[in-house]
Amino acid sequence: MHNLEQINEARDFLVSKTDYRPTIGMILGSGLGTLADEIENPFKIPYSQIPHFAKSGAVGHANELVIGQLQGKTVVAMKGRFHYYEGFTLDEVTFPVRVMKALGVENILITNACGAVNTSFKPGDLMLITDHINLVGTNPLIGPNNDALGTRFPDVSQVYNRELRALATEVAKEQDMSLQEGVYAWWSGPAYETPAEIRMIRTLGADAVGMSTVPEAVVAVHGNMKVLGISCLTNMACGILDQPLNHEEVIEVASQVRTKFVELVKGILRKMK
Ligand code: HPA
Repeated sequence: MHNLEQINEARDFLVSKTDYRPTIGMILGSGLGTLADEIENPFKIPYSQIPHFAKSGAVGHANELVIGQLQGKTVVAMKGRFHYYEGFTLDEVTFPVRVMKALGVENILITNACGAVNTSFKPGDLMLITDHINLVGTNPLIGPNNDALGTRFPDVSQVYNRELRALATEVAKEQDMSLQEGVYAWWSGPAYETPAEIRMIRTLGADAVGMSTVPEAVVAVHGNMKVLGISCLTNMACGILDQPLNHEEVIEVASQVRTKFVELVKGILRKMK
């Protein structure tokens, strides 16, 4: 488990490298990293240079922190994230969220590419996450609790902040953009779900399924941050259509929604305090 000292070392390192003091954090999911390219006068730093960040072996991802201005707000964005299925511990997966908090981040936007379980959704839709179901059977807060970071038994009755959701809905309306809403189920991966698993996940009450977001959201709530979750539904979940799933399609669809995703997030940032 990372301790406060390590979190503060990472924070102090970043503070020594840039004068930016971000108050909004963003974790950009597969195919959505281009949002970080919109950040003005960016300070970019590879994860590999930040003290105590996990060593990511994944290729094809930028794996860097981008800090700068977006819509008049100072933001810190993760271009590429650590996934549980890559073999990282949940402590490693969520360490950047702790560092964001230590930097002064109060609001965090967590995004992902995921599969649509709700059959009324379609690939390319964006979904506001209203709640989640943890199907993985582990939790990033397992282990000794550091009371300086958060309480032992955090309340999760409102992981995805109601005011931020209302803001996102308002922006989508103004932009005449359809924005689905629903429950996100966390699946460990890396194998996609089977058709039977998707039927189970639908029965359990989820509208979408993916391999990220929940650990970061839980740690953000533990740290008393406000979370906004936006999913890009890149495909109908397994078994809904009679066709196999593949990662290329996921990336392709996610990059196709780039423009509307960027506009939505920019609109939200403009309205955020
Ligand atoms: N299942 C799980 N994760 C995903 C999917 C999916 O169908 N699509 C993109 N990420």
